[in-house]
Amino acid sequence: MKPLIFAGNWKMHLGPGGARGFLDRFLPHYRPATDREVWFFAPAVSVATVAAAVTGVTAVRVGIQNVHWEPKGAFTGETSVAMAAEAGATAALVGHSERRHVFGETDREAGLKVRAALAGGLIPMLCVGETLAEREGGRTLDVVRRQLGVLQGIPAADLARVRIAYEPVWAIGTGRNATPEDAAQVHAAIRAQLAELGGPADAMSILYGGSVKPDNAAALVGQADIDGLLVGGASLDPESWRAIVGAARN
Ligand code: PGA
Repeated sequence: MKPLIFAGNWKMHLGPGGARGFLDRFLPHYRPATDREVWFFAPAVSVATVAAAVTGVTAVRVGIQNVHWEPKGAFTGETSVAMAAEAGATAALVGHSERRHVFGETDREAGLKVRAALAGGLIPMLCVGETLAEREGGRTLDVVRRQLGVLQGIPAADLARVRIAYEPVWAIGTGRNATPEDAAQVHAAIRAQLAELGGPADAMSILYGGSVKPDNAAALVGQADIDGLLVGGASLDPESWRAIVGAARN
């Protein structure tokens, strides 16, 4: 059985000092479990600090929140896959809704980033999800389908390394979340599409994200098609993060 993935997305919080302080409070209480992994998507400047702090800690992975698809060049402010890997990242978040909606990132760019991450040895976690207007217009599954379409043409062996995070935009940072049953329905549609794309769908992890808190984590990971959680706000507090990564799978 694939391990559950509990991924913290720190967004634009926790520089190197803050990251170290967080881990000093989290790691002494961390007990690795065989059925789960803990991932940290840290800001680019904190990746090396987090990687150093978790060296040798079981079932913990460090990722970067965004990468550029080109290997190098005149791209002021961007980070290449190789640079992220050199700093200790082994994963990259791609197409987070804030990248799409605040910075205008397109599906095409998300597709390029997934491919660049795969080529450079990072595990891409592709984020998909509908806005409130799209949900209310009954277009959730169409939107998610379009966003996942960027995986078309990626060979099965590479697809096997991709993780998906379903994050309804209206649930991010709002305190509103999809019910576990609603989320599970979208997850099932995502898994069906991953199979259509030629991926080993059952072995691929699909995480849910959007206002995950200690009190709803267990109900979410209790759904058959929810293989983990991508957590923003509640991943910044060591106590609530500890409660989330310890959520029972029932
Ligand atoms: P939230 O953010 O948990 O604060 O809603 C989730 C995310 O944006 O990944």
